[in-house]
Amino acid sequence: MDIELTVNGTTTQLSADPGVTLLDALRERLDITGPKKGCDRGQCGACTVHVGGRPVLSCLTLAATVKQPVTTVEGLADGERLHPVQQAFVDQDALQCGFCTPGQVMSAVAAVEQDVDDVREFMSGNICRCSAYPNIVAAIEQARRADATV
Ligand code: FES
Ligand code: FES
Repeated sequence: MDIELTVNGTTTQLSADPGVTLLDALRERLDITGPKKGCDRGQCGACTVHVGGRPVLSCLTLAATVKQPVTTVEGLADGERLHPVQQAFVDQDALQCGFCTPGQVMSAVAAVEQDVDDVREFMSGNICRCSAYPNIVAAIEQARRADATV
């Protein structure tokens, strides 16, 4: 079937199986590899992207059902200028191997935008095998402070 996806501001038409996931469409058809395939069953958060500004697990989302714009980690920076959450991850050394980081960043952006009460609970769907959790929380706190000063 024909599928139209708008990702990071660019609209593309695809011909794909109706069962193709958003994650596979992004990675294998559009060559957007920020979203990672960790578990491919909704348990790790590595595939997190935004659809219509809300975080979703792209491995559990059918590409054909996506009607709103998609943002991946590749779409966050403003040219050479990192998104405040990306900058905070750098400043707080909030990654080790980096595999989970694109998903962590996308969830973290949502946490900052939604001004959530319980950051740890909000981020609990994003697993980090390197246990960078304290630094990830510190990065979100930094980004929230930056957000509050805008
Ligand atoms: S790859 Fe989607 S939740 Fe793990
Ligand atoms: S930084 Fe390695 S899995 Fe999170």
